[in-house]
Amino acid sequence: MRKPFVAGNWKMNTDGHGAVKLAEEVVAGCGETAGHKVDVAVCPPFVYLQQVGKALHSSHIALGAQDVYFEQKGAFTGEISAAMLKDTGCTYVICGHSERRHVIGETDELINKKVKAALAGGLLPILCVGELLEQRKANKTTDVVTRQMKEGLAGFSAEKVEAVTIAYEPVWAIGTGLTATPEQAQEVHALIRGLLTEMYGKKLSNEIRIQYGGSVKPDNAGELMGQEDIDGLLVGGASLKADDFAAIVKAAV
Ligand code: 13P
Repeated sequence: MRKPFVAGNWKMNTDGHGAVKLAEEVVAGCGETAGHKVDVAVCPPFVYLQQVGKALHSSHIALGAQDVYFEQKGAFTGEISAAMLKDTGCTYVICGHSERRHVIGETDELINKKVKAALAGGLLPILCVGELLEQRKANKTTDVVTRQMKEGLAGFSAEKVEAVTIAYEPVWAIGTGLTATPEQAQEVHALIRGLLTEMYGKKLSNEIRIQYGGSVKPDNAGELMGQEDIDGLLVGGASLKADDFAAIVKAAV
């Protein structure tokens, strides 16, 4: 049915040499698993995209970026367009990561424009959603995730949404070592699948992949992937260690 999809978000880590080395080790470690049984991508910092792309060449591991700007070109100092990402060999782009929402201050409206620009530029967006700890404690998880989904995908036809991956990343589980239990994650994944059904119908909602992210490690990846609506993993810290990332990829099959 839905092919598993594991992506590594390297965030603001590595240097040029380390990024290439990591990419080479990921290629060696994932071997034949990547591409055939599971889609795999790595998302290095912008400045290393080309070098990492070269290191991935002839592997089945795709290149992704961590962000994109919504304008096509012009006076937007420091920003990177979808066309530029495409030009460097990117297939995927992460939109609305919680660190961009909560550290940089991105809004649902801005994220919606980014997803739109990514699709228009021929990239496959990974739209991140997820609640803060205080929102979970206040029983606001459903409200927050519903709003992020509806506003993030506002104005998209079913045809467009087909190319989007959703990543549920509870903010309290990111980089904290505090993973959501498989049941907690499944509950929100089922909510997201239900929203997709409501918005686009059952056929499409059955096809869209929903990744889980937040302290994914080799020892919890299999159990998370065993949940009905968890179709992949968006991995932060553990994607910086090739052995761990390869073990996660293998656990996702
Ligand atoms: P960690 O795996 O380090 O918790 O990060 C998750 C994440 O934010 C991936 O995008």
